[in-house]
Amino acid sequence: MKNGLVLFVGAFAVIGLSSAGVLLSAHNQFGALTQYKDPIEETLHPAPLRGTADRGRMVYQDLGCVSCHTQQVRREGFGGDIARQWGVRQSVARDYIREKTVFLGHSRIGPDLRNAAARPYADAEYFYKLLYAPASVAPGTNMPSYAFLFEVRPIPPGQPSPHALQLTGKYAAPAGHEVVPTPRAVALVAYLRSLNDTYEYPEAAPYVPAVKQGGGH
Ligand code: HEC
Repeated sequence: MKNGLVLFVGAFAVIGLSSAGVLLSAHNQFGALTQYKDPIEETLHPAPLRGTADRGRMVYQDLGCVSCHTQQVRREGFGGDIARQWGVRQSVARDYIREKTVFLGHSRIGPDLRNAAARPYADAEYFYKLLYAPASVAPGTNMPSYAFLFEVRPIPPGQPSPHALQLTGKYAAPAGHEVVPTPRAVALVAYLRSLNDTYEYPEAAPYVPAVKQGGGH
């Protein structure tokens, strides 16, 4: 085999160049995406995650919420995500540029959370209760309890915490005690409350197929 070296270098170059092409074109498409500046309001979208919410993103990662929840809204015609009110539009790559790790997920044991903050009932108290005692807000749910993110402590005399959860019935704290979120719970809820992709980027507009002109042959 006289040209063995040439063959080897050639094959190496072909594989190397095509892999580089795949990587560079992906980088060109997604890696180079930046915030979008609204032409009228001059605001930037998506807004960066604030400190607490960004720490909450790591709590979400640590606790493996991604094993049951996705964060990607499919466009109409590709599943019922929009009909189920999981979002008002499809998710686009630009939605994720502020997140170092993207939690797209692939299993939907629970609802998609990409727009968790947009649910009409979802105030901070709802998220705290859901994490502490899921059945207190969603009876019969499969969502596991994350009670370890809360502290059940005796109420200091005359000084109940303003952050204590308002739980009733069998979920209420024992007499003289209160349930208070730990800093990890506060961060996680700040993250959940940041999930709201409603800005209409040009690329998020639904695809409308061109109408065929009638007649012609
Ligand atoms: C074993 C699967 C599972 C895991 C793990 C899980 N969840 Fe859930 N989650 C669910 C299910 C099921 C529901 C639906 C509750 C219901 O019945 O309404 C839910 C509901 C929710 C909702 C309310 C969504 C809505 O539309 O109102 C939020 C927010 C949520 N989960 C956050 C989390 C977070 C944060 C974590 C990680 C700390 C987590 N979940 C881990 C299964 C899971």
